[in-house]
Amino acid sequence: MSKRPTPCIVTSEEALRQEEIIKQLRNDNDLIKARTGKQKYYYISTFGCQMNAHDSEKLEGMLEQIGYMKAEEEEKADFIIYNTCCVRENAEQKVYGKLGYLKHLKDKNEDLIIAMCGCMMQQEEVLNTIRTKYKHVDIIFGTFNLYKMPELLQTYLETKRTVIDIWKEHKEIVEDLPSIRKHKFKASVNIMYGCNNFCTYCIVPYVRGRERSRKPEDILKEIEDLVADGVKEIMLLGQNVNSYGKTLEDKVTFAQLIRKVNEIEGLKRIRFMTSHPKDLSDELIEAMRDCDKVCKSLHLPFQAGSTKILKAMNRRYTKEQYLDLAKKIQREIPNIALTTDIIVGFPGETEEDFEDTLDIVRQVQFSGAYTFIYSKRTGTPAAVMEEQVPEEVSSRRFNKLQEVLRPIITEKSQALHGKTLEILVEDLSKNDEKLLTGRTESGHLVHFEGDSSLIGEFINVEITEAKTYYLIGQRV
Ligand code: 5AD
Ligand code: SF4
Repeated sequence: MSKRPTPCIVTSEEALRQEEIIKQLRNDNDLIKARTGKQKYYYISTFGCQMNAHDSEKLEGMLEQIGYMKAEEEEKADFIIYNTCCVRENAEQKVYGKLGYLKHLKDKNEDLIIAMCGCMMQQEEVLNTIRTKYKHVDIIFGTFNLYKMPELLQTYLETKRTVIDIWKEHKEIVEDLPSIRKHKFKASVNIMYGCNNFCTYCIVPYVRGRERSRKPEDILKEIEDLVADGVKEIMLLGQNVNSYGKTLEDKVTFAQLIRKVNEIEGLKRIRFMTSHPKDLSDELIEAMRDCDKVCKSLHLPFQAGSTKILKAMNRRYTKEQYLDLAKKIQREIPNIALTTDIIVGFPGETEEDFEDTLDIVRQVQFSGAYTFIYSKRTGTPAAVMEEQVPEEVSSRRFNKLQEVLRPIITEKSQALHGKTLEILVEDLSKNDEKLLTGRTESGHLVHFEGDSSLIGEFINVEITEAKTYYLIGQRV
């Protein structure tokens, strides 16, 4: 765990107010602790994407300033927050399932505070369901006012009545929230929020609002502070990083931004996600090629192979355009590792359309892919499209897609066998405590034997075995 060095610099009135409230809550907590000896604990459950994971880091930062400590399990916590995702239905189902269990915890401990936030809360039906069926939830907030959590907690503590604060859109970008990183040596940095693309299957633009970019100087300052605090690798986050800067008064492109980030002394690796093929410029390919710190790996979702389906998805590129782009990137940046997202079973998808998806997979030879069965999201245009694909057809296609992907990913992995690669050592292996894990520049996971003092270091390993989803290596 790592705290930022200057945790609460304030750049807006809103943040200033929260800082004051954090201080008051901290005082109250210290008094309770002095009187009763009891330390308060929090537990945050995070669902969904890296954006949510990073939001949770900010919540953790604020909670630790308030004086809470992280609990390893829910049962021990005084304050539980569920940071939710609604991109696919199963993410929502998981949350509802867990909410039942929380009721049981609250029955045992009436002082337990339960909060829900994140993307699910931005949907009116969900909010109504939680209000009426899950009355044990005490605090509800959304994606646009995460930074107000201390104030909402304070209101709850004062009134002991359910606090609900959901905004329909963002008001301002609040800079410099405190944040607790999972790793000392790597960090995520938001460069923009929201999305303007309205892919017809996707709920994100409705729950995370319109696209807005942070100013380059704020981003660079944050990264410089992180590097001064020991960070060596950063992940620049946005729903569509390739359109970064378009909403700023002083226009700046994403390529220009990463060239500036590349100049930061002490930083070793730059990653970014997610890229939309329609906005990926030649300027960015050149910047990726020229900048030594930018990892030669790129997540470039294609979603579907058929031009007809891409049109219905409102992706604004054709099959041929995607293939041309992927091949251009592979030509310009040799050995680049391309990964992607793929949806099967979008409304109207025929066997022939699905064959186009398989064709892209075969032609591009991805190093990895996240694959999804289309999930109907109420409020999106695709939800009311005719010709919804039956579940068994989608499942069959999904399995077929795995069959085609697996040998390709294995082959990409095996091409690294015998090579000596630099990895950033990240952690102890989850399955075997004798092993450490690290990541190559291409994003491949490597397990190797070593001492935990290496965590956070760059070392060279020779790849001795290559499996589909990970590599085994030996330190050299
Ligand atoms: N159904 C299935 N997958 C979806 N994604 C987004 N919305 C849906 C949906 N309704 C996938 C896309 C996106 C990834 C984050 O989630 O592939 O790139
Ligand atoms: Fe959703 Fe499309 Fe925006 Fe990605 S680009 S967040 S898939 S609408």
